[in-house]
Amino acid sequence: MTSILILNGPNLNLLGTRQPDIYGAATLADIEQMCRDRAKALAVDLGFRQSNCEGALVDAIHAARGTHDGIILNAGAYTHTSIALMDALASVELPAIELHLSNIHAREAFRHTSYIAKVAVGVICGFGPRGYTLALDAMVDHLDRAG
Ligand code: DQA
Repeated sequence: MTSILILNGPNLNLLGTRQPDIYGAATLADIEQMCRDRAKALAVDLGFRQSNCEGALVDAIHAARGTHDGIILNAGAYTHTSIALMDALASVELPAIELHLSNIHAREAFRHTSYIAKVAVGVICGFGPRGYTLALDAMVDHLDRAG
């Protein structure tokens, strides 16, 4: 069975109470449930994790090799800073989708740079929690096409 890892970076554990004007009212647990429902409908296996630590995210990407077929990554602020996460994704050679709740291109200039996008199949941002299920659909399509 196809298996997809959704990995969440720093501060996303605070969703629901964190700047709801930007990130909305859904908690990460709500989003995980949405993803589990969608994964079931798509008949794929799902891993769903969050860490505030850059090294733990690198470790999770390494561990995905041989376990998962693709990675959906909302790296939070590490998107804009982390060469280590970019290198980890390039090293494991699994297809990755960069994901954000907010439209990072409509926000501060420092959010317009992404190291993750350089090694990603594509980027989804600006659709709130719905972006997570859009990313699952996009990853399944990508894996189907890659055959
Ligand atoms: C975010 C956007 C990032 O710029 C920010 O640092 C986050 C959340 C998003 O999902 O919109 O932590 O990744």
